[in-house]
Amino acid sequence: MVRVGVNGFGTIGRRVAQAVTLQPDMELVGVVKTRPDYAALQAAKAGIRIYAPSSESLEAFEKAGIRVEGTVEDLLSRVDVIVDATPNGVGEKYKPLYRDAGVRQVFQGGEKPSVADASFNTLCNYREVLGLDSVRVVSCNTTGLLRLICTINRGIGVSSVSAVLIRRAADPREVKRGPVNSINLNPPTVPSHHALDVKTVVPSIDIVTSAVVVPTTLMHVHHVTITLKRDSSRREVLSLLEEAPRIILIDSGRTGIKSTAQLMDAVRFMRRNGDLPELAVFTDSIHVEGRRLMLFQAVHQESIVVPENIDAIRALARLTEDPMESIRVTDETLGLTKEIF
Ligand SMILES: NC(=O)c1ccc[n+]([C@@H]2O[C@H](COP(=O)([O-])OP(=O)(O)OC[C@H]3O[C@@H](n4cnc5c(N)ncnc54)[C@H](OP(=O)(O)O)[C@@H]3O)[C@@H](O)[C@H]2O)c1
Repeated sequence: MVRVGVNGFGTIGRRVAQAVTLQPDMELVGVVKTRPDYAALQAAKAGIRIYAPSSESLEAFEKAGIRVEGTVEDLLSRVDVIVDATPNGVGEKYKPLYRDAGVRQVFQGGEKPSVADASFNTLCNYREVLGLDSVRVVSCNTTGLLRLICTINRGIGVSSVSAVLIRRAADPREVKRGPVNSINLNPPTVPSHHALDVKTVVPSIDIVTSAVVVPTTLMHVHHVTITLKRDSSRREVLSLLEEAPRIILIDSGRTGIKSTAQLMDAVRFMRRNGDLPELAVFTDSIHVEGRRLMLFQAVHQESIVVPENIDAIRALARLTEDPMESIRVTDETLGLTKEIF
């Protein structure tokens, strides 16, 4: 059993902590929470051990009647791997503490690539990160792009990629982010940072991305154009995607799903927490003409990186050298079946 701690218990941290408790080869030792709010109360009720970032913050938890096991240093002394799910850039500040404690580290996509020994996506570079001290699971958008690119690259070959990202403005629980009445170029320059982020995992890829932010909280949508290494067909692409783990195909004609709202509404009735950790590709949008492939895909930003975080722990701890075996265990425990309808 690998002993795991999670620092940061927000959108990503809560989901990763829950996923760790479901793994047969991992033990969740505890989580670090800064404030004794509803998420801390729920964690305490679920029997998850809570640690505070510093001894100064212990008092607030005591006042709220929430038992705290110690500080982040205490947690670090009890784990083999720490998953950092703190806000963008905060993980870098914790890095020296993690290193001094001698624990392996999994960071998130909001950190600079230099925070870790490598950036990570299971389908692309699992074997390359085996036994490293630290990895960075790339962002939700980058994870979605990489699942598609590495699947198509393995089956047909990818010459170049061009993607337009339509990004959600905020997560559903966030109360201060926007826009509420605008479509913002984000950034106004091309390429957006997502292309560079994809290259942190697959350096040789020729890719350009651009992005806008729109007033929605549910999902991101990408319009992706791939130039293939050889002529292909819609049938060939479909069968590759049907076989690939963590990609589900949404048939708009059969299901009536033509939007992120309908997709997430359907998912609420069939997945843990109403999450969709799989990349959703809209079947009817798949267009193949010679070497050109175009499609729409949707990314549930709150959950898509959760399976990759679990695989990252497995790779660092060398629990299995085989990415497909890690994917099998992770997906089975998280209930990720290829069929959702
Ligand atoms: N949200 C997404 O869509 C998404 C998708 C993929 C990757 N990511 C990446 O995942 C990382 C976490 O993002 P998130 O959306 O989960 O953030 P979040 O919801 O804001 O959660 C951050 C958590 O970190 C805690 N925290 C704040 N300051 C801390 C500190 N100094 N020490 C320890 N914990 C601290 C917060 O505590 P309190 O709850 O007590 O305030 C909160 O639990 C970021 O790198 C982000 O880029 C996010």
